[in-house]
Amino acid sequence: MAVPEKILREVDALRQQIEHHNRLYHSQDAPEIPDADFDSLLRRLEELETHYQLLDEASPSQRVGGEAIAGFTQVRHEIAMLSLSKVFDEADLHSFESRLKKRLETESAIQYSCEPKVDGIAVSLLYRDGVLERAATRGDGVTGEDITHNVRTISSIPLQLVPKKKNTVVEIRGEIFLDKDGFKKLNETSEKEGGKIFVNPRNTAAGAIRQLDPKRAAKIPLKMYCYSVGLVEGIELPKTLSEIFTLIEKWGLPVNPDRSVENGIDACLKYCLALLEKRNDLSYEIDGAVLKVDDSELQQQLGNNARSPRWAMAYKFPAEEKSTTVLDVEFQVGRTGTITPVARLEPVFVGGVTVSNTTLHNMDEIERLGLKIGNRVIVRRAGDVIPKVVKVIPDDGIESKLEKRAILIPKTCPACGSAVEKDGEVLYRCSGGIICPAQRKESIKHFASRSAMDIEGLGNKLIELLVDKEIISSVADIYTLTVEQLASLERMGEKSATNIVSAIEKSKQTTLPRFLFALGIREVGEATALQLATHFGILESIIAADLESLVQVSDVGPIMAEHIQVFFRNEDNIGLIKLLQGCGVTWPSIEPGHDDSAKPLQGETYVLTGSLEQMPRSEAKAKLIALGAKVAGSVSKNTSCVVAGPGAGSKLLKAEELGIKTLDEGEFIALLDDLSS
Ligand code: IVH
Repeated sequence: MAVPEKILREVDALRQQIEHHNRLYHSQDAPEIPDADFDSLLRRLEELETHYQLLDEASPSQRVGGEAIAGFTQVRHEIAMLSLSKVFDEADLHSFESRLKKRLETESAIQYSCEPKVDGIAVSLLYRDGVLERAATRGDGVTGEDITHNVRTISSIPLQLVPKKKNTVVEIRGEIFLDKDGFKKLNETSEKEGGKIFVNPRNTAAGAIRQLDPKRAAKIPLKMYCYSVGLVEGIELPKTLSEIFTLIEKWGLPVNPDRSVENGIDACLKYCLALLEKRNDLSYEIDGAVLKVDDSELQQQLGNNARSPRWAMAYKFPAEEKSTTVLDVEFQVGRTGTITPVARLEPVFVGGVTVSNTTLHNMDEIERLGLKIGNRVIVRRAGDVIPKVVKVIPDDGIESKLEKRAILIPKTCPACGSAVEKDGEVLYRCSGGIICPAQRKESIKHFASRSAMDIEGLGNKLIELLVDKEIISSVADIYTLTVEQLASLERMGEKSATNIVSAIEKSKQTTLPRFLFALGIREVGEATALQLATHFGILESIIAADLESLVQVSDVGPIMAEHIQVFFRNEDNIGLIKLLQGCGVTWPSIEPGHDDSAKPLQGETYVLTGSLEQMPRSEAKAKLIALGAKVAGSVSKNTSCVVAGPGAGSKLLKAEELGIKTLDEGEFIALLDDLSS
């Protein structure tokens, strides 16, 4: 049907008007027209589109129209979506700027774009010829998932940019989040309807953008703030990030109104502190500030580490603290029988999650805190770390109504009833050994874990179930599990059972360090297991080693040597090793010791300091050792290099004083990448 020109113009105008009001309403919270007027604009548009068959994916009438998808399609990011390095204090912020100036060989002040670090989910939006073509999650940074169907339902994200430019591609990146008000209302409605209670805004947003059905996603009032540009073709961008923000805002994209341009790191720090001050008044959750070198050319010069740009830094806010009541203390039994007190807390929302229990580590800690059941306490949680009871609130009249009870170590193991024995200064241990189901469960979990035998699918819950049902009672029993046995368990399909059995089969081909670590010898972590394996080459030599030869291994002191010897002198343990080998567990032997000279870091001593954010310290240590380096605990003139993660303090200063090479975490990861390939 030939559509009159006048209608085409009206449809076009309506679409633009609707997008304009959407933006005012959703990203600027400043509606110009009443909801009823907005609804009538949308109705008129829908009428015209239906009557004249003008349906178009890029029309604002089509946001929630899509059908549910069957599954997610993988999307490869043409330019990797990096993550951010983090600092936690002023000193680290200054060393960030010093590093920048050193690299840029400049003394001049650097201009930064400062933005809130929004606590949401990173996404990429791809606009081709000005029309939203695809939205994807960050995923692992290289490959994400196509979430276009859900992102189209977010009213503040334009389906078309203004103006729509032909022959252009522009990829916009940013954070999708649920604001505090949206979260509150969602829970109020859900509660009224008897639905589920959402735990926190971030998880709710993450769940919404990963819905298969866009109609479900549309029920969550998601928002987005754009914070960078990825792939660009056919457009010349301004020379600074702050100007890019102004430009993309004109295109209709939502950018954070609380951003600011600051000159020099001291001004950035002021920005961070002011932001922290108003954190609770913001309409959305943040966990810090992000500081980015504003000038794109300087960004180019600084480049990236393996995982993060050198020109950007997240300043993470201090941990959040809340008060709650200790309802009870229970005792958990670990793999080697250690008894750990765990506090059951009145649930409290702190640092973005609801905390209802947390470890108290040991009886000494309880004494140090002066803690009793029934006390009100302060709980602290920073980032992703385990929440911690930091202090008991002295009685102040509003203390809990619970009767106060002293916390006493049980005389018998809560899992098997064996006697509890004191071990050293602070630890208590269950004396039950192999008969204790809790120790058995924990040692099987350890054996199957990722750094040990790496049996995918054999998770903690499943192991507990298998031990409780007496299907397995030792690690060797894992290798007798059948598909039928697993498939007969509740909520376990034939397919998952088959996958687990193949993962078990696959785990039989392992390495000596993994196997040694999996055995769970006291104090033998991943790094020591690797040292033992490379020093002795074959398991038989480790079994036969006396204390004298064990302490020759770097990292192994007399106490650990004793533990190793006790473990291998135990007939049951030797029997277990034979049984596992009989089941087919095998590994290639390692040339013992002498090939060290061929290793790239042979003769070098590394010191790790600060918190490593992107890999556990044990992994970093194991990797360095595998490359031939020694890992020391303190900096001296013999140190070759100091790896300084966020929070590094005196060791980093000493290294700088002594002129020792230092690497930040990103540079360290890049080095490992280079040397391992
Ligand atoms: S920039 C080029 N800016 O933080 C660096 N990230 O820990 C890419 N985030 O994955 C990130 N607010 O999800 C940047 N204003 C902001 C941010 C921000 C939140 C998130 C983002 C990223 C994570 C890094």
